[in-house]
Amino acid sequence: MIAKIIDGKLIAKKVKEEIKAEVAELIDDNNDTPHLVAIIVGEDAASQTYVASKEKAARNVGITSSVYRYPAETTEEELLNTIDFINNDDEVNGLIVQLPLPDHINVNKVIEHISPDKDVDGFHPINVGKMAIGQPSFISATPAGVMELLKRYKVETEGKHCVVLGRSNIVGSPLSILMSKKTNPGNATVTICHSKTHDLPSITKQADILICAIGSPEFVTADMIKKDAVVIDVGIHRVPADTEKGYKIVGDVNFDEVSRKASFITPVPGGVGPMTIAMLLKNTLLSFKKEFNQ
Ligand code: GUN
Repeated sequence: MIAKIIDGKLIAKKVKEEIKAEVAELIDDNNDTPHLVAIIVGEDAASQTYVASKEKAARNVGITSSVYRYPAETTEEELLNTIDFINNDDEVNGLIVQLPLPDHINVNKVIEHISPDKDVDGFHPINVGKMAIGQPSFISATPAGVMELLKRYKVETEGKHCVVLGRSNIVGSPLSILMSKKTNPGNATVTICHSKTHDLPSITKQADILICAIGSPEFVTADMIKKDAVVIDVGIHRVPADTEKGYKIVGDVNFDEVSRKASFITPVPGGVGPMTIAMLLKNTLLSFKKEFNQ
């Protein structure tokens, strides 16, 4: 039996259509539009591409989008001053500072400088803390995207054993918390694994739901999963391949073999990835509606 594909591209499209309809309705009411600002420092090619996609996606749903581009030599003080300026601009609902930042800038200081009310990336310690204690907050886009996929595909999570591979602040750690909360999806028994975990396969084989965010291409193989597990692949890697472009995109999971044993699986590309921008736009809309103001 081949696993059912969790189609993130399709769900992201639906989420964006819902956002677009809601934005149009809100604009009718008061003429303001939600406004998302992205700050990018330096020339990192992947960051330029991400920010351009976010900008385009925002415009497509009726969210105003501005990008502040700064050279790599920008000082921390200049960046913090810009954040102050945007924090104080009532016309802006969401502010993201694209990561990574150049080495001379303290990333934690920058994140903590963003107003928690505009932190649509959900990276500010206030938002992370509120998420951890189950209070309404901005939840970062990738974990929020995974939860949305589980919800829309009606994956049963209550009482299940969810194993999370990876403990990053952006993905593994928040997902382990969200999956353990008294929510639906959620209410799972969660195990978090990382580079120091002993005998990883003995744990992954216990997973009813396996969330893979380990950052290693095609790391998870069929012998590491239980039959009929739900497999969520958060990885994205460019690996050399005999294709026109000379590479292909793969996840943390060996899709060909794992999809023959799992019950549900997210493909890469087209799984979790497309959900990320959709959830960022959703957070911007929630901010506009002042859902989580402190
Ligand atoms: N760099 C890679 N992913 C992200 C993200 O989700 N937000 C920000 N701000 N930077 C990133």
